[in-house]
This record gives sequence, C-alpha cells and structure tokens, in this order.
Amino acid sequence: MIRSKIAGIGMYVPKNVVTNDDLSRVMDTSDAWIRERTGIRERRFASRYEDTTTTMAFEAAQIAIRRAGITARDIDFIVFATLSPDYFFPGCGVLLQRLLETKEIGALDVRNQCSGFLYGLSVADQFIKSGMYRNILLVGSETHSYALDFTTRGRNLSVIFGDGAGAVVLQPTENENQGILSTHLHSDGAEAETLAMLNPGFHAGRFVREKRPSLPDKPYGGLFITEELVEKEDFFPQMDGPAVFKKAVVKIPEVVMEALQKNNLTTADIDMLIPHQANLRISQVVQHALGLSDDRVHNNIQKFGNTTAASIPIALCEAWEMQKIKDGNLVCLAAFGSGFTWASALLRW
Ligand SMILES: CC(C)(COP(=O)(O)OP(=O)(O)OC[C@H]1O[C@@H](n2cnc3c(N)ncnc32)[C@H](O)[C@@H]1OP(=O)(O)O)[C@@H](O)C(=O)NCCC(=O)NCCS
Repeated sequence: MIRSKIAGIGMYVPKNVVTNDDLSRVMDTSDAWIRERTGIRERRFASRYEDTTTTMAFEAAQIAIRRAGITARDIDFIVFATLSPDYFFPGCGVLLQRLLETKEIGALDVRNQCSGFLYGLSVADQFIKSGMYRNILLVGSETHSYALDFTTRGRNLSVIFGDGAGAVVLQPTENENQGILSTHLHSDGAEAETLAMLNPGFHAGRFVREKRPSLPDKPYGGLFITEELVEKEDFFPQMDGPAVFKKAVVKIPEVVMEALQKNNLTTADIDMLIPHQANLRISQVVQHALGLSDDRVHNNIQKFGNTTAASIPIALCEAWEMQKIKDGNLVCLAAFGSGFTWASALLRW
C-alpha cells in the first residue's frame, strides 16, 4: 500500500524580533497581560519591502527540498496555504513556482486559515496515494504584520499573530511503518465572521448588514473598497477571542480522537502532538483533555506567536530539529481556526 511521507521539512522566520514590550510602546497592553493570556513572549515580523508571504515560503521550501534530496525541478505540484497572500490574485502558488523556477507544474492555493496546512496536507496526500504525483511541495506562510491594527482598538488580535513560513516535501513510500495514516477535515460556517477579515471584499454587506457599504454614486462597481471603508478604517481582521477559545478547546481534542479511533489507536500511542499554535492556554487545555505529558506536546508560540497556516509546519520542523521526533514515532497534528475549520492528521515519522 502506498502512503505519503514527509521526505523533507524546512522553516523560515523573519529576523525582526518584536517583544511584548515593543508592542506596549504603540498600544495599551503589557508584557504581563500578553504572557498570562496567550503565553507569547515575542514574535517575528516581516521586514518591509523585503519579506513577503511568498519570499518566506521560498526560504522554507528551499530547505525542505534540499532535505528531501531533490531539486526544485523534481517538484510535481505545489500546494500553498495562506490567509495573507501577496496579491488578492493571482495566488502565492504561482509566485512561488516562479521563484523556485520549477517546471510548469500545477500550483494550488488553499484558504483555510489556521487549518490551511492540514487541508493542504490532506489534498497532497490524496494526490500521492492515487499515484498522480511523486514530489509535492506543501507550504504554509503568513505575513500578518502588514495588515493588523496596531492601535489599542485592535490589541486583542494584533498581539497574538506573527509572521513566518514552514514547508514540507511529500513523497510516496511503501514502508508500512512510515507515512500519513489519515487526515480529517471539518468546517462549520455558522460562525464565519467570528474570526474574519471582511474588508476589502466582494460581499457588499450581504451577510453582515452593519458592514453594508453605502451604494456608490455610479451604476456598477465601487463596492470592493469604498471611501467610507477607508475613512472608518474598517479593513482590519476581527475576532471574538473568547468564542474562538471555547470552540477550539472542544474541537481540537474531538478531531484528535477521531483520527486515533480511525486507526484503532489511543492517546497512549501518541509520541508527539503538534497543536496549531493559537494560544498556549488552548494547547494546555487540549493537552490536559488528552492526558498527554509535557514531553509529548511541542509548543513554540512563546517565540513566534500564532503564524496561522505556518504554525504547524514551523512547530513540526522545530520539534524534528530538536530531535523530539524520531523515525517511527506516531505524530499527531491538529488545528482549529477561522471558518470555523478544524482538522487533524496522524502520521508515522
Ligand atoms: C484573545 C484572547 C487572548 C483574549 O483573552 P481573554 O481572556 O478572552 O480576554 P477578553 O477578550 O475577554 O478581554 C478581557 C479584557 O482584556 C482586554 N484586552 C484585550 N486584549 C488586550 C491586550 N492585548 N492587552 C491588554 N488588555 C487586553 C479587553 O479589552 C478586556 O478588557 P475589559 O474587561 O476591560 O473589557 C483569548 O480570548 C484568546 O486567545 N482567544 C483565542 C484566540 C485565538 O486563538 N485566535 C486564533 C485562532 S486560530
């Protein structure tokens, strides 16, 4: 039976370290508040005019490709997960294809926010298992810092997020003790606006009446960015933090258990859980719910903040580099985020 394995992994974070004290100089917040509520001590922010979501993905991808023992010309397909693309369109997949100078391969963009890497992993896994592709490059990359509200108004959200990228190369394996065992994807759009960036957008206020822009004085167009929207600075992401928290601590353990049951395994079999790095408190509640000891969960939100689609590959890469993950280990990846979407994957390293 053919399975997909992670043949190479890489990560990249920008060099610019931003501490909680740095943030408290531009908004009403404090190191104590951020540490206590989120566990975050510092995060990396992209260097303006230098790093973009695509360039950071390029850095991480080059490492993953090298570690897989292939070259960019061997890549058959690109899957790119991000909520902060360089352009509204085209997506980052083609920009990465251009930078890597791959062949004229397919490039798919995935927009599932914090679950984006796992959605991408699931798609790539199916392509490999079906025999369609042999070397798939999957990346998660985010440049949150260019678009957040760094005034006190946006503090509940802007202190959480950081920038960075992670990448893996997936290849087929016939080794029974290696590879992705299963992936599990879910969504519930009932709370789509609970954690969202609505503007600019093509929605014309259809779903959120209070966000309906006044009609422009022309017969067509003019609804994507209105003067009103710019005047009111109504173009930042929004989040009901406590609502996200409550749902995440239920759905993450649930989707981990789903993966274990599917494979006739139990929590005792997990060697390493890599939870999406949303908030250290969320990870701790999940760890407690699953009864896992500290050495079987890897968190690094303390250093990097929440990097959304990049958080799982960054944490996975770091855990592997620290030799916390060894050949044959059972690794569980799990995420929850905007959408809401949530997902898990179980793999033998
Ligand atoms: C965002 C989050 C840290 C906020 O923590 P919380 O304990 O729920 O805090 P609340 O939002 O209830 O706000 C509590 C108070 O802190 C204040 N506050 C919010 N952000 C603050 C900040 N950065 N600094 C200081 N005070 C802040 C609020 O204004 C509020 O003040 P009030 O009581 O005077 O109204 C927390 O809800 C969370 O982590 N949620 C999950 C978010 C997440 O994971 N998002 C990504 C999903 S992938």
